[in-house]
Amino acid sequence: MNVTTLNKTFLDLFSVLPKQAFFAPGRINLIGEHTDYNGGHVFPCAITYGTYAVARKREDALVRLYSKNFPEKGIIEFSLHELDYNAEHAWANYPKGMIRYIIEAGFGIPAGFDCAIEGNIPNGAGLSSSASIELLIGVLVNGLFGLEIPRLQLIKIGKRVENEFIGVNSGIMDQFAVGMGKQDAGILLDCQTLEYQYAPIVMGNHKIIIMNTNKRRELADSKYNERRSECEEALKELQKELPIEALGQLSEQQFEGNKHLISNETIQKRAKHAVYENIRTLKALDELKAGNLEAFGQLMNQSHISLRDDYEVTGIELDSLVEAAWQQPGVLGARMTGAGFGGCAIAIVANSEVESFIANVGAAYQQKIGYRADFYVASIGDGAKEIEMEEVK
Ligand code: GLA
Repeated sequence: MNVTTLNKTFLDLFSVLPKQAFFAPGRINLIGEHTDYNGGHVFPCAITYGTYAVARKREDALVRLYSKNFPEKGIIEFSLHELDYNAEHAWANYPKGMIRYIIEAGFGIPAGFDCAIEGNIPNGAGLSSSASIELLIGVLVNGLFGLEIPRLQLIKIGKRVENEFIGVNSGIMDQFAVGMGKQDAGILLDCQTLEYQYAPIVMGNHKIIIMNTNKRRELADSKYNERRSECEEALKELQKELPIEALGQLSEQQFEGNKHLISNETIQKRAKHAVYENIRTLKALDELKAGNLEAFGQLMNQSHISLRDDYEVTGIELDSLVEAAWQQPGVLGARMTGAGFGGCAIAIVANSEVESFIANVGAAYQQKIGYRADFYVASIGDGAKEIEMEEVK
């Protein structure tokens, strides 16, 4: 992927050259899983894989979009005056939802635009390709029309698109990571207050390896929404005695002393994960700041076990990858990342072992699951932004 090819695609499709270029990353979450919608903490970072767009304003109200990742869909076209969800518009519903909610937030978009897009985030891998396209369109509309939409508002609009336009009841982590990412830094975000801090990710002699199960994330959205309601139920029962607004406010002691209020055992396990994972995330930040990568890795392992046994969102594919990773030399920690039910896991691996790690985990996975896993070395990059035409890669 490079500027020449994306510009050429634009030129072939629209018979003029584009004027501006934009990029939005994908993300991994280091730790703090299924805590965002429970008012807890998350610790994600943006990665250098992402989605690129080149665009040009139009004189009329037409929006014409083309994605090189979905060539079979051709150019998708709609007017600024007609911004309803349309199943036939497939992936373009994300841009459409963004445009609609940006206008609803009071930012007038004076004209339509033409746009060609290409992403290199592995498809359906749970690395937030949808938040990436949301924020990409956010910075694009912002940049084309000089709207000066505050970044946090753009992030919230992205989440609204996911929740109301697409119908996935997700938290704010993905849009926040994609919108606020910074090179070589993780973002510790308090999802209740939206206070955040950057923490340098200093991996020393280690790399973060992304492991893709290549399992299609079927049922992921319905199971995700189910976990969310289970946590809401747990919260309601705890609120009978405790003046709390979110599970993320509970300490270990408070949870242990009150868990009997949650009558259903499964729901109790879900709440336990939410509470302990939040605490682990705060500990992980401290360990990272202190340079204790080994302790950080241990917390990652505990996170996976809790997601496997108490939250039950891993599945055989993620478990096989992570359990094979744990057995390799030079591995400090490994866990699933993102929503689960397929998608990706991450591992912290010594530089000198990366090659054999990939060979061994890959072979174990292939043997057990019957198809291959993919591996990528993660680089931590910036959040969504306008870029120079030459930077389109
Ligand atoms: C998905 C959601 C996020 C978050 C994670 C789980 O990525 O979009 O809001 O809930 O799952 O941590």
